[in-house]
Amino acid sequence: MTTTKSTASAAYWEPLWADGRQYRQFDEAEQRLIDENLGPGRARPALDIGSGAGALARHLHHVLGYRATGVDCSPSALALAAAQDPGPGPDWRCLDITTDSLTALPDPAYAVITCRLVYRWMDDKAAFINRVRHLLAPGGTFWVVTEIAGRRTTTDLAVQGLGITPADAELLTTGWSVVRTADLDVLRCYALRP
Ligand SMILES: C[S@@+](CC[C@H](N)C(=O)[O-])C[C@H]1O[C@@H](n2cnc3c(N)ncnc32)[C@H](O)[C@@H]1O
Repeated sequence: MTTTKSTASAAYWEPLWADGRQYRQFDEAEQRLIDENLGPGRARPALDIGSGAGALARHLHHVLGYRATGVDCSPSALALAAAQDPGPGPDWRCLDITTDSLTALPDPAYAVITCRLVYRWMDDKAAFINRVRHLLAPGGTFWVVTEIAGRRTTTDLAVQGLGITPADAELLTTGWSVVRTADLDVLRCYALRP
């Protein structure tokens, strides 16, 4: 019998981080879009889900002035993030956002929740979005950055599979009072408000 490993688990991600795998850089164009859409933090709480090496959480904390928490299920990713932080910086927490109790988070609600290159990997996307909705403060913003399927010219199915499908996009964008989008080559950024 074969079992498929969840792509939203430490069992999947920890070996990749421990092996030195890197992901798309958080560049100036993307930073500009975040700054325009999220605005100044004024010490309000922000949560970066699947924070990886931590560039986005550090930007929220040190540049925009949020009080950021970065959560990831991979201890190696969190160690890398903490090592790159000039400090005093984001609160780094090792947590599985799909299964762990949300009471393990430092704040009950967040003005901003970000999720960069993570939504694609959630096995149960509807359940994931529900958890985010629970954590988002009234008037808050859920910022999602994800690759969209079909934008690459490659015929490599593994690379094509990095993007979300139209059905995943519809699930993500349904039920919010405000949905704003911006495109960055193969990526789409979503600013979603309850
Ligand atoms: C493609 S990487 C992106 C990392 C980072 N956000 C970036 O943009 O560079 C996906 C990240 O999501 C994390 N992740 C996946 N499933 C998770 C879960 N259930 N709970 C917490 N983090 C998770 C992985 O460990 C990994 O760091």
